[in-house]
Amino acid sequence: MGDHRGDDRGVIASPNIWHWPAVYEEENRAQDPRGAVYAALREDADWAGLDIVDVGCGTGFHLGMFAETARSVIGIEPHPPLVEAARRRVGHLDTVRVLTGSAAHMPIPNGSVDLVHARTAYFFGPGCGAGITESMRVLRPGGALAVIDLDATAYLYGEWMLADLPHYQPRVVEAFFDAQGFSSRRIDTEWNFPDRDSLERVLGIEFGPKVAARAVRETPGTTLAVRYRLHIRRKPRSIEVGSLRS
Ligand SMILES: C[S@@+](CC[C@H](N)C(=O)[O-])C[C@H]1O[C@@H](n2cnc3c(N)ncnc32)[C@H](O)[C@@H]1O
Repeated sequence: MGDHRGDDRGVIASPNIWHWPAVYEEENRAQDPRGAVYAALREDADWAGLDIVDVGCGTGFHLGMFAETARSVIGIEPHPPLVEAARRRVGHLDTVRVLTGSAAHMPIPNGSVDLVHARTAYFFGPGCGAGITESMRVLRPGGALAVIDLDATAYLYGEWMLADLPHYQPRVVEAFFDAQGFSSRRIDTEWNFPDRDSLERVLGIEFGPKVAARAVRETPGTTLAVRYRLHIRRKPRSIEVGSLRS
């Protein structure tokens, strides 16, 4: 999460979903079953009737939900096996396409979408200037870039994140978003697992063995409290000179 150098496309290795896509699917199903994150996003940047990009879409878990009300949805993903998986998932949806690309290189025209969404998007943070510039290019005036990530300052889950990533500095990440003109809010959620085995599998792909074992020990049941951050930056609308004249 703290490393924003990535490869020459700015792509950050994502071992959880790259190596264990089936367990990551379990994780996505467990996350926030009441939809608090979707609700906050809808309040701040509703996509109904609009054109949206989900960048770093992984296996496309969120694409169908966006397609329920959006005019069109484009998933963009750099990792080829996940591009294929996302295409398989949304093949039956006419308004959804999945393209190979990255936050810094989105294969779509200038000013062609209203919302760029990036979820559990550790490729947005200090060092991701190219992704912000690219998002501003593809957005229409007034459109929004929405970055959603886990908040390492809250609950046991945050403590495990910090234990697993000793160089990660949440305050530095948050200061970066403030300095780049993003609004910020925090969203409290629960992750609910069907059973202990599922919870343990997910903790096992999110953390190294030592922290995963600690997380399993410190979790009595099948629910975790997890807080998210939602950061939004809007592309300015052009100022109409006529409207400034008295
Ligand atoms: C933790 S996964 C989240 C996937 C998806 N957003 C979800 O919520 O299911 C992070 C994803 O970001 C992708 N990724 C990594 N670096 C990226 C970059 N620079 N631009 C776009 N996507 C990137 C990874 O390949 C991976 O699919």
